[in-house]
Amino acid sequence: MMLIVKSFFILTLIKCNVAFFSDHKEPEVELKDDLKSSVLKNVKEKWIHQKLDHFDENESRVWKMRYLENDGYLSEDGGPIFIYIGGEWKITQGWLISGHVHDMTKEFGGIMFYTEHRYYGKSHPTSNTSSDNLKYLTVQQALADLANFIKYIKITNPKLKNSGVIVIGASYSATMATWMRLKYPDLVNGVWSSSAPIYAKLNFYEYNEVMTESIRKIGGEKCLNRIEKAFEKLEEFVANTEPKNLFKIEQDFNLCEPLNLTRDLQHFFYELSDTVANLVQGHRNYDIQLACDYITSNKIDDDVKAFSKWVIKQKREEKCIDVNYDELVSKFRNITWGAKANEQLRQWIYQTCDSFAWFQSGTSLNQSFGSKYPQISYFVQMCSDFYGDHFTERIIEQNVARTNDEFGGFNPQVTNVYSTHGDLDPWKAMGTMKDLSKNSPTCVLQSYAHCADLNSISTRDTDEMKESKIRVKELIKGWLKL
Ligand SMILES: *[C@@H]1O[C@H](CO)[C@@H](O)[C@H](O)[C@H]1NC(C)=O
Ligand SMILES: *[C@@H]1O[C@H](CO)[C@@H](O)[C@H](O)[C@H]1NC(C)=O
Ligand SMILES: *[C@@H]1O[C@H](CO)[C@@H](O)[C@H](O)[C@H]1NC(C)=O
Ligand SMILES: *[C@@H]1O[C@H](CO)[C@@H](O)[C@H](O)[C@H]1NC(C)=O
Ligand SMILES: *[C@@H]1O[C@H](CO)[C@@H](O)[C@H](O)[C@H]1NC(C)=O
Repeated sequence: MMLIVKSFFILTLIKCNVAFFSDHKEPEVELKDDLKSSVLKNVKEKWIHQKLDHFDENESRVWKMRYLENDGYLSEDGGPIFIYIGGEWKITQGWLISGHVHDMTKEFGGIMFYTEHRYYGKSHPTSNTSSDNLKYLTVQQALADLANFIKYIKITNPKLKNSGVIVIGASYSATMATWMRLKYPDLVNGVWSSSAPIYAKLNFYEYNEVMTESIRKIGGEKCLNRIEKAFEKLEEFVANTEPKNLFKIEQDFNLCEPLNLTRDLQHFFYELSDTVANLVQGHRNYDIQLACDYITSNKIDDDVKAFSKWVIKQKREEKCIDVNYDELVSKFRNITWGAKANEQLRQWIYQTCDSFAWFQSGTSLNQSFGSKYPQISYFVQMCSDFYGDHFTERIIEQNVARTNDEFGGFNPQVTNVYSTHGDLDPWKAMGTMKDLSKNSPTCVLQSYAHCADLNSISTRDTDEMKESKIRVKELIKGWLKL
């Protein structure tokens, strides 16, 4: 039998809403080479004026929100509107010319839009990202932006006056998609929500638990044991602060400077589990297997050394590993657009402090990444250091409760929402694992991680994945009465 070489290349090999610190970028899109140039010409970049504060009638300030449009498939007499919602990242053209939503837009003779979330990418509502200005960065405002956007495109394009509207999101933008149907059911006919966390929670210790299970399933017990032993040893080293132990940590992990235990302890451990989080959450194809092969098969007896070698390999773009917490704070306090921490992370972490928390602590006993660090205090300290000391644990807890009150936590009262999750994805613990209502089914895809189902139907899909993609198409047909 001949091996068929796939003609796919990856346009942007980036992962969707990763862990906490790690790159918060668009989900990855796969593009057929020959397709690219011929269809890109259909994609237009446009801007729409939005109110800075939709909920204050006296606020007259406006700003320009960016969006992308592909009207290359729209039927003569109009067709359905597909809106792919941008999350905490800068939007790019890939999803307008490839992926399952693109394919459905084409098949149904519809029009596709991709909206950029306020405060991300080029959509800057204020002159900087000072804490004062970030008060306009809320999911409620972002949903109101979308509502206004939908009304606007229907008013300004006669062909779309009576079009049905399908909203699609991935990760946090999937959360938004689900809540869009909850808040504005008259504007949205149906929703596909891929990997949405919908339950806000202060201590998201489940993240590391699912991560443990996923490594066990894909990478095997031996790999997990090695990681577990490395973390045990590291916790021992920092408890027993002999200089030789701290020196070993500094050397093994190629730290930029000696570990300062009073300052950097929690941040150091967070960096380590976050590196694994990136792997598990972003898992595609054989990623976890390859990592585990590396961690277990090299001829090193020392567990810390074996694990640290892999961590350094993951961070090979960095000269050395920087775990200096004070430097992190000063980076995140920079309020200039485009500052290093500021392409999305200053904004995203603000949203977690203000609304969702989802702090990925390492304190569960039921996981393999140590059980002492980081604690919730680490994340609360960050909120306070980055944005002001009005953020305390009690306040953040109240913020989380307010979010769940408003949106219904695990039980939003919605219809016409298709929710999908990857079984390996740690975020699934904050998502729904059951149907939200009779016509709002949920599907958990075995052997897949975060936002892994957005690409076109492919021969590499499992049967279950293929079925899910066909199912969402059928559901959308029904919602649009096609
Ligand atoms: C808006 O301004 C009017 C007139 O000054 C005032 O009566 C009203 O309370 C204001 N509304 C809000 C939401 O501040
Ligand atoms: C940030 O922007 C606000 C206006 O939105 C302005 O008043 C403030 O001076 C700016 N801060 C800095 C440090 O530029
Ligand atoms: C540990 O986590 C796994 C799944 O991640 C779960 O099945 C098990 O019940 C948990 N055990 C405890 C003691 O919480
Ligand atoms: C460790 O960090 C603390 C708190 O930031 C600081 O006061 C101290 O000087 C640091 N120690 C060293 C050796 O750098
Ligand atoms: C903030 O970031 C900008 C852009 O990278 C940089 O030019 C500026 O020097 C930084 N400001 C501070 C105070 O570090």
